[in-house]
Amino acid sequence: MEKEKKGVRLEHISKIYQDPKTGKDFYAVKDTDLVIEPGSFVTLLGPSGCGKTTTLRMIAGFESPDEGEIYLGDEPINALTPDKRDTAMVFQSYALLPHYNVFDNVAYGLKLRKVPKDEIKERVTRILKLVELEGMEGRMTNQLSGGQQQRVAIARTLAPKPQVLFMDEPLSNLDAKLRSEMRTELKRLHSDSNSTFVYVTHDQLEAMTLATKICLMEKGVLQQYDPPLTVYSQPANRFVADFVGNPTMNFIDAKVTDSSTVEFLGINARFTPNDPKQTINASEVILGIRPEFFTIRDGGKIKATAYSTLPSGMETTVKVKLADELVSSVVFGAIDYRVDQPIECDIIGDQICIFDKETTKRVSIGKLEVL
Ligand SMILES: Nc1ncnc2c1ncn2[C@@H]1O[C@H](COP(=O)(O)OP(=O)(O)OP(=O)(O)O)[C@@H](O)[C@H]1O
Ligand SMILES: [Mg+2]
Repeated sequence: MEKEKKGVRLEHISKIYQDPKTGKDFYAVKDTDLVIEPGSFVTLLGPSGCGKTTTLRMIAGFESPDEGEIYLGDEPINALTPDKRDTAMVFQSYALLPHYNVFDNVAYGLKLRKVPKDEIKERVTRILKLVELEGMEGRMTNQLSGGQQQRVAIARTLAPKPQVLFMDEPLSNLDAKLRSEMRTELKRLHSDSNSTFVYVTHDQLEAMTLATKICLMEKGVLQQYDPPLTVYSQPANRFVADFVGNPTMNFIDAKVTDSSTVEFLGINARFTPNDPKQTINASEVILGIRPEFFTIRDGGKIKATAYSTLPSGMETTVKVKLADELVSSVVFGAIDYRVDQPIECDIIGDQICIFDKETTKRVSIGKLEVL
């Protein structure tokens, strides 16, 4: 019978380190609450130094929290060493056993757990098939490519069927093409396995494509914990909005003249919030417009000029000059505007964000109609 899937819960988790330069204590992770649902694929995302690895190492048991409690299912696990947690970690360096062949590397954890020989053979065969390494059982690990080694490392950690599988930037050593292939494999592996995946990355595209939920952190503090598309279209604050999406969101200073009229770059527009209760109290705000919502079309009410055109095949990023500011627009297909060519633009969609300039929190989201 398959084991019941288990999730992880963090309650008020903090980790304090000492800054080696100043000798002062600081929070590497601060007061984090997180519920990682059983069977989910959670990515810990954020810039370098924001506390992703520290958070993962605490959940995996390689570090102990200074404050708070971590649960696996309903069991508090702060006091358990990593080997007592029914979890497993894929290390960035793969940490394969160099004098063992592929089969023995994958079988290693099962042998330690004294799984019967027949079952080891069956499980290793099945898992190697899953990572598409059938027929490579006898190869030594130094005869494998980086991507193949990576798959052995993942197979080895999956073989004992851990409740939770941890990965810290496991694809960062691979080239772009292999990385993209491995993403596809990881997603398949996740749906075929019975495990919960917790995955650290600083690559927003990787987090967007893999995760069922993204945990976005900055300076040790959780900023937003939501499914990727929610993080993308309803960012909690300016930091989140800026970190996710490429090309990045346009941030434009604006004034709210009455509760529904917004003035920016010499343009007046009517803002209609999706939720009528979300009236804007601030007068100084930042408009957040994703490049796909700043469109170029004949007859558009915004008169601008083309600053630069960057085609990338399926789509083109156009930098549009408007009142001496540059705004990014993404249009489908290959288009080439002349430098300084006059163009007409519009703002579309109902996912235009308004951030409070002072707190940078998102205060509203809705439609913006140029007057
Ligand atoms: N053992 C340690 N002693 C002191 N400070 C530490 C220690 N480990 C990490 N830090 C600091 O804690 C903060 C968070 O580190 P962490 O490794 O969790 O970041 P990260 O988000 O994984 O970054 P990266 O993307 O660069 O791997 C950083 O400021 C780091 O310098
Ligand atoms: Mg790290």
